[in-house]
Amino acid sequence: MLASINPLLLKSEWMHTGDIRPYVFVRPENQIEQPGTRHKLDWFQFEPIYKNPLDLKELPFAEAIYQIEWKSFGHQSLSIPRWTFYDCAAMPGFIAGFAGRTSKLPRKILELLNYSDEHEWCPLSLFIIIPTMRKGEWVAYDLCAVNSMLPKEEQYYGLGFLSKAFGLWYANVEQCSGMTQWGSPALKLHSHYGHMEVIGSYAPLHTHAKTMTYRCEVNTDCWEKFYTRENDLAFLEKYGPTNLVIDPTSEESMIELQNRIQNKEGPFYLSALEIAQKNLKEKLTIYKIKQDNS
Ligand SMILES: CC(C)(COP(=O)(O)OP(=O)(O)OC[C@H]1O[C@@H](n2cnc3c(N)ncnc32)[C@H](O)[C@@H]1OP(=O)(O)O)[C@@H](O)C(=O)NCCC(=O)NCCS
Repeated sequence: MLASINPLLLKSEWMHTGDIRPYVFVRPENQIEQPGTRHKLDWFQFEPIYKNPLDLKELPFAEAIYQIEWKSFGHQSLSIPRWTFYDCAAMPGFIAGFAGRTSKLPRKILELLNYSDEHEWCPLSLFIIIPTMRKGEWVAYDLCAVNSMLPKEEQYYGLGFLSKAFGLWYANVEQCSGMTQWGSPALKLHSHYGHMEVIGSYAPLHTHAKTMTYRCEVNTDCWEKFYTRENDLAFLEKYGPTNLVIDPTSEESMIELQNRIQNKEGPFYLSALEIAQKNLKEKLTIYKIKQDNS
């Protein structure tokens, strides 16, 4: 079954065949009421595949998710321990991503994930969010996709980006916080879900001190720009550049911004277009709300 193709998503044609669909891996008690009603969007036309992570029958699916996770993150010493997936994702939160019809997937992927073709659907990506104590705010803490294990020409363009987009859309997320490492390709994705405020630029409490912590008001106008790479006029109108930069190779630049955040000199923001246009190790301009720039 083919879904009508939104011209914006032509680079992600795999979304429209019906052989790759979103999945929701959430225990029944945590199911979202009225999913996909907060953000008006026609991107996700197929009904998601529902699975209960606490159901023993779904263990093979979960094991393949672990394979994606461990193989994507292994080299960064950030791979998720089993207890964390159970205690901090399956129990309190919301796990989602895309899954492919196993019979239609390249053998290579099944081998990479050690997955048997007796199962109808094979996970291809993972996104985890958990609600915080603050109403409307969720924390995203895991995003990965099989793309990171495949050569460019075999990748499913936008798989990582759309996995997070689907999760935010489906769970009606209003405000999303998260953490990522300066210089990570993930910053190119995370900056596209709403204007990205840097609420922490240095985190020695974390496994990686060069971790940035962000927050955004989810805004689907920004999502389109991941594909169009157009200027975000609303961003340019609202925020102006400061003379502060983050140099992903300089811990000092992170500590300086962190001190300014702690001194309440912010709020500080990053430009998604600038991040998209720059190489991962290039310096990033820090922005502020214009009337605060004096
Ligand atoms: C980061 C990750 C989730 C991105 O997902 P993905 O499916 O590979 O990426 P998408 O297809 O959605 O998006 C492609 C865009 O992402 C960016 N991107 C992805 N990988 C990149 C890389 N290695 N270097 C630079 N940019 C990269 C580019 O902007 C690219 O678009 P372009 O080729 O048109 O410039 C995935 O690579 C991954 O699983 N990485 C390992 C785990 C990880 O670090 N997760 C993030 C933790 S916060």
